[in-house]
Amino acid sequence: MLLRALLTSSVVARLVTAQTDNADPFAPVYTQCPPGLSIRAASEGLSQSEQSWRKQRGDNVVIAVEAYLQVANITGLDVQDFTSRLNASNAPVAGLSVSGGGTLSGIGGLGIWQAYDARYPPAVAARTGGLTQILSYLTGLSGGGAVTVSTIAANNFTTIDSIRQAVNFSVNYEEGPSGNVTNYYNQIFRNVGAKVKAGFPVSVVDTFGQFWATYLPAGGLYSNYSDLAQHKNAFSSGNAPMPILTLAEVIPGKSPTVGGLMYPGDNATNAFSLTSYEMTPFEFGSWAGGRVQAFMSTQYLGSDMSNGTAQNRSKCVQGFDKFTFVQGSTANAFTAWFIDDWYNIPIFAKRELQERQNSGEIVIPPDQYQNLEVVLVNLTATHFNRTFNQSLWATYPNPFKNYNEAMKNVDDLLIVDGSLSGETNPVRPLIVPARELDLVIIYETSTEAEFSWNNGTTLGNTARSAVEGNIPFPTIPDVNTMVTLNLTRKPTFFGCNATDTPLVLYLPNSPWSGYSNYSYTKPSFTKTQLDLILENAFNLATYGNGTVDAQWPECLACATIRGSARRIGYDLPEVCAQCFERHCWNGIVSTREITDSDLDLKPWLNSSLSYEEWNNTIWNKQDSSSNGGPSLYTSGAGRIAKHLMRHAAYPVVLALLHIWYAAL
Ligand SMILES: *[C@@H]1O[C@H](CO)[C@@H](O)[C@H](O)[C@H]1NC(C)=O
Ligand SMILES: *[C@@H]1O[C@H](CO)[C@@H](O)[C@H](O)[C@H]1NC(C)=O
Ligand SMILES: *[C@@H]1O[C@H](CO)[C@@H](O)[C@H](O)[C@H]1NC(C)=O
Ligand SMILES: *[C@@H]1O[C@H](CO)[C@@H](O)[C@H](O)[C@H]1NC(C)=O
Ligand SMILES: *[C@@H]1O[C@H](CO)[C@@H](O)[C@H](O)[C@H]1NC(C)=O
Ligand SMILES: *[C@@H]1O[C@H](CO)[C@@H](O)[C@H](O)[C@H]1NC(C)=O
Ligand SMILES: *[C@@H]1O[C@H](CO)[C@@H](O)[C@H](O)[C@H]1NC(C)=O
Ligand SMILES: *[C@@H]1O[C@H](CO)[C@@H](O)[C@H](O)[C@H]1NC(C)=O
Ligand SMILES: *[C@@H]1O[C@H](CO)[C@@H](O)[C@H](O)[C@H]1NC(C)=O
Ligand SMILES: *[C@@H]1O[C@H](CO)[C@@H](O)[C@H](O)[C@H]1NC(C)=O
Ligand SMILES: *[C@@H]1O[C@H](CO)[C@@H](O)[C@H](O)[C@H]1NC(C)=O
Ligand SMILES: *[C@@H]1O[C@H](CO)[C@@H](O)[C@H](O)[C@H]1NC(C)=O
Repeated sequence: MLLRALLTSSVVARLVTAQTDNADPFAPVYTQCPPGLSIRAASEGLSQSEQSWRKQRGDNVVIAVEAYLQVANITGLDVQDFTSRLNASNAPVAGLSVSGGGTLSGIGGLGIWQAYDARYPPAVAARTGGLTQILSYLTGLSGGGAVTVSTIAANNFTTIDSIRQAVNFSVNYEEGPSGNVTNYYNQIFRNVGAKVKAGFPVSVVDTFGQFWATYLPAGGLYSNYSDLAQHKNAFSSGNAPMPILTLAEVIPGKSPTVGGLMYPGDNATNAFSLTSYEMTPFEFGSWAGGRVQAFMSTQYLGSDMSNGTAQNRSKCVQGFDKFTFVQGSTANAFTAWFIDDWYNIPIFAKRELQERQNSGEIVIPPDQYQNLEVVLVNLTATHFNRTFNQSLWATYPNPFKNYNEAMKNVDDLLIVDGSLSGETNPVRPLIVPARELDLVIIYETSTEAEFSWNNGTTLGNTARSAVEGNIPFPTIPDVNTMVTLNLTRKPTFFGCNATDTPLVLYLPNSPWSGYSNYSYTKPSFTKTQLDLILENAFNLATYGNGTVDAQWPECLACATIRGSARRIGYDLPEVCAQCFERHCWNGIVSTREITDSDLDLKPWLNSSLSYEEWNNTIWNKQDSSSNGGPSLYTSGAGRIAKHLMRHAAYPVVLALLHIWYAAL
């Protein structure tokens, strides 16, 4: 009853009119179009901007490779001799892809960045420090995008220690930094109201997206993704990798539905026909597959385009690509959460869907009215005069309208979490031939298997869709092989024998020093927990910090320069062959069925540590200087159902009750 009263239009009206006419920096603005603004075909290859950035980046990579190789100390490699032959166009090109998986992948990804960072003394001591400085691309989707990539990019690609100074990870992103949830949600809804007033369609992605500002530096709430290319910073000056987020879409009338809820498609056989969009600081668009292969300037997203050009040259849009809106877009899995919660059909895991498919309006099961994710979508819809359905999708004025037959009269793109294309790891941007990568590092935290570990499904999906699209990619074995040969348990290379594919280094989230399988919905972290997560990722990335395979640092460096050495006709020393012999998947397939004990993993470096002991005495230990922590969840955890604990939980109602009382 309270809830119903809360939703009455008088309250809504009051909230909206409470907003002053002062320009809210969250709202996009109209400007003159830049000369030559147009859609360009993906077949042209890299954009001019990316090409000149690559040149700059290449020059810096040459310098960074030398420093890295000195640290890695490959037996028998004359570093001077090798690096003196390198230049911007033949230097190694490497990328790191961070999967979806909420804050589980998001924080874990920060650990990989740190484990290879030359500015982190333990990484230098472990002889892996310096690979981060060589990366040319950093991709993420969902948690890997909204947290890992966005946090690193918005904080100028600094060290994790510096990020920990700038970002308070103990803040619960659902409650906001001040602890005053009323203020937090007031500001969020006012910002969205400003976007509505400026004439743009909004959805829950505009509200929920602002949660992710928790990981941005001060002022980040009002910054744009394309600002990364406009302002002087580590990325724009070629000193850091290009940050890329990936996104999927639903298409009304075409996408399959469950109870009226659209999702991109459940098809293992046609993943390549689902559009996979990427967002860089320069461009938004899709390279291959799906219904469009073209790009638009990220800075001018939101502009009214048709047939490749602006409809009104004095009315282009800037500031549509708000950082938090882009974060929210890549993490917008509401439809999958609802399908999972309401019908017990896990979309991420791609189970059978036939029985439930139908079309039409979304029917909210009555017992779901109090589901707090439902409440957030509903409130966003009600406040801003949208239907529940309209409120579910990040709504982008379609830059590709009338660009081709498939985009004929399509006014809006409805964008969802990149992982809903079936590829939970944003690998596509790293394997498009135009980018010519040598090494693709895949940090996998897709929680595919029992106990939230991995079984290789996503990597296999990526390989399959690459084959469909004729994109060179290594052969990936089946799930049984991945698990029973421990390939989901330790760093493994794929594609060592191939000459036409990038080399893939698979880093599956797995327990090394501790249990890194906490819930992907965890909204805040104590200092102790952050230390433990970063340490486990460090041990994964360094193969046990030299304790399990002392040669790993050399192997990693061999893999980094392999493609480059091949291009300049340089023979790598014998130790590299030994490394690949030991750490590449060798083509052997296992037919043994997976058992529960295959997935009931114990930490490599401390196999007698049980999960219970870890959970009770290590993971949940109070910080000496504890400031808050997950108070909401410790107090009510037992009673709040799983789905209530996800994004947009309890505080929404608290906040809105406050607003409601205030308004009466
Ligand atoms: C590099 O490795 C060799 C052994 O292969 C060792 O003698 C030498 O001290 C190492 N150099 C550095 C700088 O660690
Ligand atoms: C929270 O913010 C609201 C609105 O600004 C204010 O009225 C209220 O007093 C604040 N609550 C606390 C506990 O400070
Ligand atoms: C970003 O980092 C670079 C070093 O990579 C530094 O030169 C620059 O001053 C930093 N910019 C800002 C805005 O902090
Ligand atoms: C799966 O792909 C096939 C072939 O493209 C298509 O006919 C079918 O509609 C797809 N199913 C779904 C649910 O997307
Ligand atoms: C679209 O633009 C092309 C030139 O780029 C032009 O030839 C064509 O007539 C335009 N089509 C429409 C429907 O405006
Ligand atoms: C709400 O949207 C409907 C349909 O788009 C429109 O007819 C109506 O005027 C809108 N109401 C308000 C208060 O803006
Ligand atoms: C919001 O939920 C209420 C039921 O709690 C329902 O009556 C209302 O129609 C919903 N609003 C929208 C926009 O779906
Ligand atoms: C592997 O993961 C997929 C995706 O989550 C799941 O559907 C499948 O049941 C898992 N297979 C095994 C054998 O664990
Ligand atoms: C996989 O790892 C487990 C645990 O260390 C070990 O017992 C098993 O022999 C390994 N399996 C293979 C095929 O290497
Ligand atoms: C790595 O191992 C060395 C000892 O060889 C130890 O001093 C260091 O603390 C370890 N680093 C991490 C991050 O565990
Ligand atoms: C790669 O080549 C080696 C040596 O010829 C062979 O043992 C191995 O099975 C091959 N690996 C794959 C994945 O085919
Ligand atoms: C882990 O610890 C938390 C907090 O102490 C507790 O609520 C939870 O039941 C524990 N889980 C397990 C499986 O022991």
